[in-house]
Amino acid sequence: MQTTKKDLLKNFVSNLLRKKNPDEFLEQSAAGGLKKTLNAFDLIILGISAIIGAGIFVMIGSAVIGTTERIGAGPALVISIFLVALACIFPALCYAEFASMIPVSGSAYIYTYATMGEFAAWMMGWVLMLEYAIGTIAVAASWSGYLIKFFEGFPFLPEVMKNPPVWLVNDYQTALASGESIPHLLGIPICMNLPAMIIIMIISFVLLKGIKESANFAKIMVLVKIIVIALFVCVGAFYVKPENWTPFCPTGIKGILMGAFAMFYAYIGFDAISTAAEETKNPQKNLPIGLIGSLVICSLIYCFVTFVLTGMIPMSQIDLKAPIAAAMSFVGQDWFAGAIAIGALAGLTSVLLVLQFGTTRILLAMARDGLLPSVMKEVHPKFQTPWVITILSTILMLIGSLFINMQVAAELAIFGTFTSFVIVCIGILILRKTEPDRKRPFKVPCCPWFPIIGAVFCSGLMFVALREVKTSAFLFPLWLIIGIVIYFMYGYKNSRKEVAIKIQETIQTEEDKIISK
Ligand code: ALA
Repeated sequence: MQTTKKDLLKNFVSNLLRKKNPDEFLEQSAAGGLKKTLNAFDLIILGISAIIGAGIFVMIGSAVIGTTERIGAGPALVISIFLVALACIFPALCYAEFASMIPVSGSAYIYTYATMGEFAAWMMGWVLMLEYAIGTIAVAASWSGYLIKFFEGFPFLPEVMKNPPVWLVNDYQTALASGESIPHLLGIPICMNLPAMIIIMIISFVLLKGIKESANFAKIMVLVKIIVIALFVCVGAFYVKPENWTPFCPTGIKGILMGAFAMFYAYIGFDAISTAAEETKNPQKNLPIGLIGSLVICSLIYCFVTFVLTGMIPMSQIDLKAPIAAAMSFVGQDWFAGAIAIGALAGLTSVLLVLQFGTTRILLAMARDGLLPSVMKEVHPKFQTPWVITILSTILMLIGSLFINMQVAAELAIFGTFTSFVIVCIGILILRKTEPDRKRPFKVPCCPWFPIIGAVFCSGLMFVALREVKTSAFLFPLWLIIGIVIYFMYGYKNSRKEVAIKIQETIQTEEDKIISK
């Protein structure tokens, strides 16, 4: 009896730690049927699409001047940006090593499966849903806000578009807290963020049609937002007064760290490039170029915008809701506010495209491993996209957008991202030890130091964030607990069935070979 219990326990633990050989993923993806169409340029576009969005168009204001809860960095925000870029560059190098070694859909989920086993992989996939799916809800809510700002610029539009009722452009929590009257149906209050829901559905439709088409759509969006930002920097530079940069660092090191925390949001999403590994041509070369290239380009853009913004107007005049547009109005360039709104809408749309794309590809990888129902791994015969997952995840995001407040969604996305970065850095260290001879087309330089610095840096920033936020510091562990429960109720049993089916298939193939001989 004693031995049986011990065996059961051993079996249970070994199941949880069951790793997948990276070669298994490569075989699976070869059989999966996704088209390989993306080159390095497409990946950089995908990266810029994911990175530049609400962070630079909205969060930069509070990162400079602060909010009631945290202090801002002042003009020294450029140092914060440098710090965040540094915190991201080490995980980015680790992502590049992993993605060039295992170029399949699924990103950090796959890497964790190959290094830390099934349970950790499930939890990683679950945490990535915070970054991608919950992140989508946050960005869609920002999109909705900018749409209304855009409408405000057109006097001939009906009043309801410029000043919509609170219940039509907010989640339940925000709408109910506003104290305004809300319609009821059968005693239930009716609230929804209609523009946010519409944009989520439009993006899903584009994604359903196919990745190459989506990449083309992203290119247009990226172009629009870069033109608007470039115009801001060029026009704004003429209005810079160096005295606005003094004092340069009004809140000291703490302010710089808080600025880094706020601007971290602006960097979320670059890792989405690795989710496109399976659809990338020559991934060994193109993935590292895509990851590091987009990170460097975005950091430069952020630094230019910060220099110009803080130089154009005194800190006390920076607006929290639309800092860039308001800065232009401050110097008398009112016409520019409308253009900024268009750029922001384009920027946020492309971020949504990448986040929704990432959501579907990570879920696809999890379904392929039997951790999610097998119907979810179906690829559409004509469009060659995972259509069941795309539709299902869209429905869940639409429901989430009804209930999750934008601020909380953004914070949860940050937690998800920090966690995935730390685990990916640790994963590189593990795989270098367990599989030192595996072919690594791209290698993180200065290993183990770079992955260690990346893990320590990101954990440190997460610690700072944990002290800043309240609701999400409670919801994040709750999300993890729900993930554990789902795993033991479904994934634990079903991933084993998947393994059994594969073994059966291999035996059958061998038997068929023998018979045919
Ligand atoms: N980095 C993305 C943004 O700034 C999430 O919107």
